[in-house]
Amino acid sequence: MEFFIDTGDLEEIKTAYSWGIVDGVTTNPSLVAKAGIDQKTLIKNISEIVDGPISAEVISTDSKGMLEEAYELAKIHKNVVIKLPMTKDGMIACNQLSKDGIKTNVTLIFSANQALLAAKNGATYVSPFIGRLDDIGQTGMQLIGEIREIFDNFAFETKILAASIRHSDHVKASAIMASDVATVPFKVLEQLFHHPLTKIGLEKFLADHEKSLK
Ligand code: E4P
Repeated sequence: MEFFIDTGDLEEIKTAYSWGIVDGVTTNPSLVAKAGIDQKTLIKNISEIVDGPISAEVISTDSKGMLEEAYELAKIHKNVVIKLPMTKDGMIACNQLSKDGIKTNVTLIFSANQALLAAKNGATYVSPFIGRLDDIGQTGMQLIGEIREIFDNFAFETKILAASIRHSDHVKASAIMASDVATVPFKVLEQLFHHPLTKIGLEKFLADHEKSLK
């Protein structure tokens, strides 16, 4: 299973990448706004840190505008993946980019049918938003399971990228559901390392070692 980091913060990306667990990066317009620099500069900076897929989202809502933006973003680096919204125009752009050999990530997926449409249009990734479904009282993780089953039924090559991850249980459940990738905020990536018994165990080992020296 691959891990992407879901952030536009370069320090977070550098730190998490140094842990050896980050395979790529996802951004969205909200994360770019938070980073406080223009998208192209941000994506270029990220490409200098991480050697892996970097999702950059288009802002246009019409397919022509999406494609114009996509071709510009794709010029930044070979690892750029074009993030498109799950709309009819997004699907037209996805179909074209797939024919052009440009990787895509269809975002704002909230149903298995939406994921199926994206896969039919040759999407490289689909991003089901787990946390936002949980927020409205649904079970986001169930959606991952449904998409997995559908993609396996028809041997679609489109990868499932579990997004809107809020806590470490989302990461574990995504892995159990055989999601290909999870894009995880820095804070949650950090949580994955911790277990109270690891901390207690290490403290005891170190204390015993100290005692043995006396
Ligand atoms: C990543 O591709 C998504 O844009 C992101 O995971 C959304 O997360 P949020 O629901 O916490 O904003």
